[in-house]
Amino acid sequence: MKKITVAIDGYSSCGKSTVAKDLAREVGYVYVDSGAMYRCVTLFCQQKNLITDGKVEEVKLRSLLPQVKIEFRKNAEGKADAYLNGENVESEIRSLKVSSQVSIVAALPFVREALVALQQEMGKAKGVVMDGRDIGTTVFPDAELKIFMTADPEVRAQRRYLELKEKGQEEPFEAILENVKQRDYIDEHREVSPLRKADDAVVLDNGNITREEQKEFILNLFKQRTGA
Ligand code: CDP
Repeated sequence: MKKITVAIDGYSSCGKSTVAKDLAREVGYVYVDSGAMYRCVTLFCQQKNLITDGKVEEVKLRSLLPQVKIEFRKNAEGKADAYLNGENVESEIRSLKVSSQVSIVAALPFVREALVALQQEMGKAKGVVMDGRDIGTTVFPDAELKIFMTADPEVRAQRRYLELKEKGQEEPFEAILENVKQRDYIDEHREVSPLRKADDAVVLDNGNITREEQKEFILNLFKQRTGA
């Protein structure tokens, strides 16, 4: 069966990674979480104190960026954990502290250029499901299957609230909702590769459907595109 590229883009916390992981597992593709890469660069900035009052010290970050090594390694459960310079940062990069600054770091053109190149390298052999904001528009504009996901901000914030709580990182719901809305705004309004639906993407609003239903939906599209 021919291998294709699957691009899943959309708003923050709308379940892109759940859909992407479910599909990748089902069809034996590699899953790449591009957001984790922007989160790693943000954590690096925080470790080096490069962000003050919402502004990134760009000159310093640009010179230090070649030192940022991002990898995904499988853990005992077979899931890919993000590593920053050899350290497992999977849990830390999901914190509200990182979420609150990731969109300003992700808006920097030189950061995007470096990470897009890395993402293109990771997906060049096809057989990949990648989720993010600009996968169908910039990283893989020729992807055979593009999905654009959305859901109401309140629904998304509630999901993120429960996710963080389960990990023992409980934060006030209002703070999470505010973060979700703020990231949507920055992601949609930045100059380089803003979040937008690719013309040929299929919209999936998963506000009112189950995990199984969304998996079915995407699997059917996958079968159509691969001729399986
Ligand atoms: O999981 P969640 O929806 O909260 O976000 P994520 O996919 O982990 O992405 C975190 C942030 O990274 C987003 O809010 C964007 O600012 C940025 N991002 C991006 O600019 N481009 C991508 N391809 C992926 C993420």
